[in-house]
Amino acid sequence: MAVLDFQDVSKVFKSSLRGRHLYTLGPIGFAVRPGEIFGYLGPNGAGKTTTIKVAMGLLKPSSGRVLIFGHPADSREAKQRVGFLPEQPYFYQHLTGLEMLTFYGDLFGLARRENRERAGRLLEAVGLQAAADTAISKFSKGMLQRIGLAQALINDPDLVVLDEPLSGLDPVGRRDIRDLILSLKAKGKTIFFSSHILQDVEMICDRVAILSAGKLLAVTDVAEVLERSVRWIEIQVDGISVEAAKGLGLAAVSAAGDKTVVSVADEDAVNGAISLLMGAGARVAAVVPMRRTLEDYFMSQVVGGGAASGARPPDAPRPADPAGKPGPQAAGQGRQAAPPRANDSLFASVRREV
Ligand SMILES: Nc1ncnc2c1ncn2[C@@H]1O[C@H](COP(=O)(O)OP(=O)(O)O)[C@@H](O)[C@H]1O
Ligand SMILES: [Mg+2]
Repeated sequence: MAVLDFQDVSKVFKSSLRGRHLYTLGPIGFAVRPGEIFGYLGPNGAGKTTTIKVAMGLLKPSSGRVLIFGHPADSREAKQRVGFLPEQPYFYQHLTGLEMLTFYGDLFGLARRENRERAGRLLEAVGLQAAADTAISKFSKGMLQRIGLAQALINDPDLVVLDEPLSGLDPVGRRDIRDLILSLKAKGKTIFFSSHILQDVEMICDRVAILSAGKLLAVTDVAEVLERSVRWIEIQVDGISVEAAKGLGLAAVSAAGDKTVVSVADEDAVNGAISLLMGAGARVAAVVPMRRTLEDYFMSQVVGGGAASGARPPDAPRPADPAGKPGPQAAGQGRQAAPPRANDSLFASVRREV
């Protein structure tokens, strides 16, 4: 059974004055499976928070319905099994970390002793033991996000729904929250979280749905996008010049720093190229599959073949094509080698296109 099931859900916002149409979400339909980390990806204003509010029973859909473990989203049965971290949570500022968690535990009707024990364990799990007696008003953004996550876990939920849990955090804070999300998955929980940051989604999600301007563009398996899309393989070698390598009949050869880089189309071609190179006295330094990133996939979904202005085109040159030569972009295409990307500006350019 699906953990979280969106069945043709739509939500229309109209202005209260003249009923002017403001925004439409959907209709969207997809299901989150048990035990997966599911990313809900889209630029600001796409409708992620609206979707999550409908899923949490906080907004009534204009059509369709959401089921959680087979129960209507606004039912008691559903709510008991869900933990939720809103996008901009507000917590009572004068409470300490521990008081705040036990307050929420009370709301779920936890017995006094169990409540305190669980709150203590959760503080530890999110790395806030030291802040147990600190007032929330003194918490940093990262600490607020952690205590918010702990709050979402107080009822030991099977489904954890997080709205932009990684935004506004520094890299260390983001890594910590990513690790926490992964540890929840390891405990068998299902996690649904929204993000406008492609990289975070790519790093931890099993599947993603891509939303843009209220429309669901794709629901896809992250590993498959990355697997299916090995584009070419780079063999980095020492001890042979670009010219000498070309002289061996290898088509796509370029220099990268002090290395000579030979690109081949697939794994079958790797061994042949390596023996040719080694026969000519070269030493293999690395063999690197050059992958398409989720960003490339996103771009191809949203923008199709055309490149959005200011953003990297979805199709990098294919050096293994007969006449192909690695362009300047090829070197940056590897997942490991990819420079940090400005995702907000990427989305800004995507939004102009759609
Ligand atoms: N209560 C509301 N009334 C009217 N429009 C709304 C309301 N809530 C959100 N919107 C609009 O719906 C769109 C989607 O917003 P939101 O779901 O917050 O997007 P996201 O979370 O992806 O940034 C935006 O254009 C926003 O202005
Ligand atoms: Mg939002």
